[in-house]
Amino acid sequence: MRLCRAASRLTIVLLLASSLPGAASSQASAIDQRIDDLLSRMTLDEKVGQLVQYSDFSDDRAAAVREGRIGSLLNVTGAENSNRIQRIAIEETRLGIPLLFGLDVIHGYRTIFPIPLATASSWDPELVTTIEAIAAREARASGVHWTFAPMVDIARDPRWGRMIEGAGEDPYLGSVMAAARVRGFQGSDVASPDRIIACLKHYVAYGAPVGGRDYNSVDMSERSLREIYLPPFKAGVAAGAASIMSAFNLLNGVPTTANTFTINRVLRDEWGFDGFIVSDWNSVGELVDHGYAADGRHAARLALNATIDMDMMGGIYAGQLADLVRTNVIPERSLDESVRRVLRAKFMLGLFENPYVDPATEAAVILRDDHVAAARDAARKSMVLLKNDGALLPLSGDVGSIAVIGPLADNGQDLLGAWHALGRAEDVVTVLEGIRRRAAQTTTVTFARGSTVVGPDRDGFAEAVEVARNADVAIVVVGEREGETGEAASRVGLALPGVQQELIEAVHETGTPVVAVIMSGRPLAIPWLAEHVPAILQAWHPGIQGGNALADVLWGDANPSGKLTVSFPRSVGQVPIYYSRDVTGRPRSESKFTSKYLDSPNTPLYPFGHGLSYSTFEYGDLVLSADTIAPDGTLSVSATVTNTGRVAGAEVVQLYIRDLVASVVRPVKELKGFTKIFLEPGQRQTVRFTLGPSELGFYNQDMQRVVEPGTFAVWVSSSSDAGLESSFVVKGN
Ligand code: NOJ
Repeated sequence: MRLCRAASRLTIVLLLASSLPGAASSQASAIDQRIDDLLSRMTLDEKVGQLVQYSDFSDDRAAAVREGRIGSLLNVTGAENSNRIQRIAIEETRLGIPLLFGLDVIHGYRTIFPIPLATASSWDPELVTTIEAIAAREARASGVHWTFAPMVDIARDPRWGRMIEGAGEDPYLGSVMAAARVRGFQGSDVASPDRIIACLKHYVAYGAPVGGRDYNSVDMSERSLREIYLPPFKAGVAAGAASIMSAFNLLNGVPTTANTFTINRVLRDEWGFDGFIVSDWNSVGELVDHGYAADGRHAARLALNATIDMDMMGGIYAGQLADLVRTNVIPERSLDESVRRVLRAKFMLGLFENPYVDPATEAAVILRDDHVAAARDAARKSMVLLKNDGALLPLSGDVGSIAVIGPLADNGQDLLGAWHALGRAEDVVTVLEGIRRRAAQTTTVTFARGSTVVGPDRDGFAEAVEVARNADVAIVVVGEREGETGEAASRVGLALPGVQQELIEAVHETGTPVVAVIMSGRPLAIPWLAEHVPAILQAWHPGIQGGNALADVLWGDANPSGKLTVSFPRSVGQVPIYYSRDVTGRPRSESKFTSKYLDSPNTPLYPFGHGLSYSTFEYGDLVLSADTIAPDGTLSVSATVTNTGRVAGAEVVQLYIRDLVASVVRPVKELKGFTKIFLEPGQRQTVRFTLGPSELGFYNQDMQRVVEPGTFAVWVSSSSDAGLESSFVVKGN
């Protein structure tokens, strides 16, 4: 396995080199020469300035920029505005070093796409790359060079509000999505006028806070870290991500912003990451709040020692670093290394040559027609059909009357979702608008809000019941407000907020068939709906084209193809719940002393990988290329998938494995491959996957990555809870 590790490190180095402008190492060394030249002319204060980032541009900040005491600003947007501020750096500072403008471009800049958890549910990396490229184009045209995305934190606890920003619970899927998003933002040359640099965040394990409470501590084994939480970062680094953000949390007692194990050893030494690292918002200063640093001076020393190159908002580097160098506490070469990494990003972006952007380009690209069309496409492909009894959906074209009900039906703001950059409610096509546009002229569409999203207001129930009673079908749109998701938005409950479930119950009582559309940033626990409502569509927070995309799906103009990337719990008491669990010595059974709840099944309400289609797909012919392989060998796994339904549709074919007996017990299933295929009715396709050391290996008790001899089960399936099964043997040496 040693050899393999060395080989993968080599790959990373090669990929990083090829992500530099022009993919030529000669250019890289030309940049290094320019950096050397600049460094030789910079004062200590100017060097420190490159490592300082602030938000909230003001006259005071302008003065600091003029003196070379700020290297980067966040939340500066708009071509004219950013040019005005950049001009200060270029024309009024001693060395004319451009500013780096960063922004949270999380799911679009002005064209707002579905939240990342939703687009991950498309299981379509190309789609994800496409939308991030659009986000990059709009952002760069507005003067933004750097997004604080993708968030690649694995999240297995839906109480944690930031689950919306990631790809869900699985490290394999998370890694594929991380790389796809980095490629989308950065392309092959970040100096292009339509590209920005990516920032993998939050390094690391921020998605596993105790109790699901944001910013809370994390305690986990090195194995969990390496097998579950680190892989998406590693994949993002291999894809060429130019920057990484540290996190707020403690990891095993050590703050991630000063963690020399995860940063210096794993990220820098093992993976060879030579991009720059930014702290999270004041997370250098918070080393003091954590009780890890005695004061700001100590915090600055600890953070720089962990190669945190830029201090976001804290002002700690600004206040402390120069003196720490002057008094020889920090060697100047450590400071220089950090400055070098920040300057390299500015050179890679071409900011020294092209510091300004053209307002005409900005006007031309913002909300461009093809961007808006991509938002609709992404929203359609992100929705997950959880249940569809009696083929209630799709609606028939000549449905007589539709009651549109619910507090999220006539709502633009919340469909944007948290972290919507420059998104505006007025850009959003609401559900009611989308349905009205799509419904036939002969269809009557009525609307009743019914209730608010949060709060106990039942005043609208009677009207909702009335419109439902007079309709052929009721589409009830419920879920979460955007502000109930995202940062600092953890919840202890996972039920539909407020009285929304009661609203659905009241509508259901009328006997009119109900389609529940859930717009949320996390899985909600909806057992009552699962039992009583015939059709449930998980639409997430779908972005500016949410209403149109929903209408596309409701009428079958688009056949749903999303699959869950997080398990849906039956109740909050089950969390954290994830498919890739370990087996206990006492698996659930009828006998008393087994691992179970007295008041709930162990299983989720809807499993990872689940998602229905208006078509049906039949799996057959599972074939393995070998019964037995060597530990360093590979085998291929193929299966044939047939569209046995009446409409064309896409299916996500999933590959899972289990190492049945191992020196460290392996999870019951692990995703190791997937592919999304499109099939016409009656069409069949053979899908092929390869399994080899990187899929079959794990960390043994000595934390060596090994493939152990023994039997492996393998499944090819449409969800984590079903599938064709076979097995093969890895033979001993
Ligand atoms: C704090 C958040 O944790 C981080 O994700 C974000 O990028 C920064 N604030 C900047 O807005």
